[in-house]
Amino acid sequence: MTKPDRLHDWHPRSWQQKPALQQPRYADQARLDGVIAELSRLPPIVVSWEVDNLRDQVARAQRGEVFLLQGGDCAESFEDCESDQIARKLKILLQMSLVLLHGLKKPVVRIGRMAGQYAKPRSTDFETRDGLTLPCYRGDIVNRSEFTPEAREPNPELLLRGYERAALTLNFVRALVDGGFADLHHPEYWNVGFLQHAELKDAYQRIVESLKDSLDFFEGMSGTKVHDASQVRFFASHEGLHLHYEQAQTRYIQRVGRWYNLSTHLPWIGFRTAQLGGAHVEYFRGIANPIGVKVGRGMDAAWLRELVEILNPDDEPGRLVLIHRFGARDIESGLPEMIETVRATGKRVLWICDPMHGNTESTPQGLKTRRFENILSEVESAFGVHDACGSALGGVHCELTGEDVTECTGGARGLSDAGLARAYRTSVDPRLNYEQALELAMLIARHRRR
Ligand code: PEP
Ligand code: CO
Repeated sequence: MTKPDRLHDWHPRSWQQKPALQQPRYADQARLDGVIAELSRLPPIVVSWEVDNLRDQVARAQRGEVFLLQGGDCAESFEDCESDQIARKLKILLQMSLVLLHGLKKPVVRIGRMAGQYAKPRSTDFETRDGLTLPCYRGDIVNRSEFTPEAREPNPELLLRGYERAALTLNFVRALVDGGFADLHHPEYWNVGFLQHAELKDAYQRIVESLKDSLDFFEGMSGTKVHDASQVRFFASHEGLHLHYEQAQTRYIQRVGRWYNLSTHLPWIGFRTAQLGGAHVEYFRGIANPIGVKVGRGMDAAWLRELVEILNPDDEPGRLVLIHRFGARDIESGLPEMIETVRATGKRVLWICDPMHGNTESTPQGLKTRRFENILSEVESAFGVHDACGSALGGVHCELTGEDVTECTGGARGLSDAGLARAYRTSVDPRLNYEQALELAMLIARHRRR
């Protein structure tokens, strides 16, 4: 027997009746329609029971049983969809999770900002250079970043190319994870790549050895293998920005009687598109996935309360993740009121901290950067404020890469503004490099142990 659908006034296309911000304007509607029809027919990237599983994990995180680590590029690029880069990104997330597991003494749920993080919100629709005005770059799934009329024209075909790369990426990640890439019984897989800072390297090595010893001890004592600790699950997430793309991968699951976004496990609503009455909130309210919403300064209590009501009317465990991104300077003044507002709704949420998007600044040379000390400071404040308010920080959300890039300043090797030019490669926001990401995890772990 099929259960009745919960929402009678919702459909994967009902967002089209609402104002949709940050959407590209396609010149060829017929071609767009054709692409959406094709995307709707192709197999999904993830399946509903994985999505349900992540919802259960988020519910566990809400109860304080696990910690959530979400990270990856600001924007994935089609160009970077290659084996080494994907493996390194997976590796840094696994290594960070290991360090957090060791420090926080609880399992860590890993969620990559990958396999679909291809669409970006922008502050303006157009960009002008030397008198020429063109549409701005909105991510590889929409257009290309070169400043030519051809490259900047939104092209519906790119939706298919993005879908394919998302599938290729997740396929490879799944194979690596299933193949033992993350098995603690093989610490050689956990070797650090280009970690040059000797102190960090030693500290990391000690953590791996200590975990391996605990595992061996437990297995020796019990005579059984610890599968849960040694085998990892890995989930995908991206900003659910491009609503045609999300809609096309939204499927009705008969067995459950609900609609699922099967382009990813955990989509989130970006800070710029969380308007009440807007298309994104309309789309997200109807899907069964666990969902994130970016929140921060400028979002008042009434708005936040209403968002929680619309997005989690049934107070479903594991449904709603609020990702706060205030900036190191504003978090202590802004977060307590937000926690109170949500508490007053009586609805459970998972709070996680994005210490990146409130800490973006420009160097005198005009490069977009973030300072490691501000990123760390925002995370430490987040733990402190939640503790003080009788709440709990359940995870962190970072922009990072497994590469040796130079985009954020600071960290153990003390990267300066002048050093940023060496390997500044991001197409949108500055990411923590491999070493900075691992260091951040260690400092969070150390801070919590104290
Ligand atoms: C992002 O996560 O890349 C992003 C654009 O964040 P926010 O919506 O918080 O600005
Ligand atoms: Co970003």
